[in-house]
Amino acid sequence: HTLDIDPNAASKGTYEFYMLKEIDEQPAVMRRLSQTYFGADGDVRVEQSIVDAVAESDRIYILAAGTSYHAGLVGKNIIEKYADIPVEVGLASEFGYHFPKLSKKPFFIFLSQSGETADSRVVLKQVNERNLPSLTMTNVEGSTLSREATYTMLLEAGPEIAVASTKAYTAQIAVQAILAKAVGEKKGLQDAKDFDLKNQLALVAEGMQELVDGKEKIDELAKKYLANTRNAFYIGRGVDYAVALEGALKLKEVSYIETEGFAAAELKHGTIALIEDGTPVIALINDPATADLTRGNIQEVESRGANVMTFVGKDFARKDDDVILPQVDYYMSPLLTAVPAQLLAYYASKNKGLDVDKPRNLAKSVTVE
Ligand code: G6P
Repeated sequence: HTLDIDPNAASKGTYEFYMLKEIDEQPAVMRRLSQTYFGADGDVRVEQSIVDAVAESDRIYILAAGTSYHAGLVGKNIIEKYADIPVEVGLASEFGYHFPKLSKKPFFIFLSQSGETADSRVVLKQVNERNLPSLTMTNVEGSTLSREATYTMLLEAGPEIAVASTKAYTAQIAVQAILAKAVGEKKGLQDAKDFDLKNQLALVAEGMQELVDGKEKIDELAKKYLANTRNAFYIGRGVDYAVALEGALKLKEVSYIETEGFAAAELKHGTIALIEDGTPVIALINDPATADLTRGNIQEVESRGANVMTFVGKDFARKDDDVILPQVDYYMSPLLTAVPAQLLAYYASKNKGLDVDKPRNLAKSVTVE
């Protein structure tokens, strides 16, 4: 049932598209990250110089583009919780030409699957000119952003071929969690010590496997609700808001359905005007603090005719048609919520007969500004 990834084998095997193969590989990526970043004794293992440099900083700036930016939005929540350092997440293309006022001891993290994105390189160049410390989290060893940054952490996801990023996104979230735990422990924080990340990653790997094994269910949803729609919305709160942005990007880039991600409560401040009979809304619910409120937001759109698909952590499941996700730590829940979101995008595209792996106008690695 489980799939292993051979870092050198970028072959589709029996898959019609790389995107599905890469979605399916995510449990194996989580296990590999666990092997790479945890010792036999169960201790988190991150290069000491990285841990020291991050622990010393008074603010972390995460820079990225596209899907990697969305991974950074999730990472901010995890790092602030477990490493107790304020985090600012920036779009590299904006940051590069509009540097904000920096803190006294900034630390820069570049998230990049390819390690080649020009927008991010522009920022790193300036970080280096100012002699500030930086870390690139990338899937490509020896890539430009990796060579030019002070430190590197590898995503260990194996080659990602489909233009739409899937396994690199979840790997980026996991690696940020690994760093957060290592830094939090170094700082002696109780939350970080209590955070059993190794076990969480094992639960996530199992949960991801369950979700990819149940992929037909998501295909049915795509057929039922996305076959003829011109637009769709993702809503969520907390980390689910960050995943909503990524779910929307995934769906729009491969299926060409115009999709936006919104903070669940924000929809009513304007965008709800676009909800009509049959408008698909995908609602994400993993945040204990706001689960009931999001249910209220679902009712608001349902009463305007929306077709709602709900991806929800087991503890918050309520309705028969909820798509139930295995329960993990709230901060790790994006690793599971991402999977049905990726599958929904995949099937919406494939069912329309599109070239899932090569959406129009897009490139895997963008080396121009
Ligand atoms: C391109 C790709 C996106 C990706 C973005 C950032 O636009 O099409 O899928 O998220 O670049 O790429 P990076 O390699 O820096 O993560």
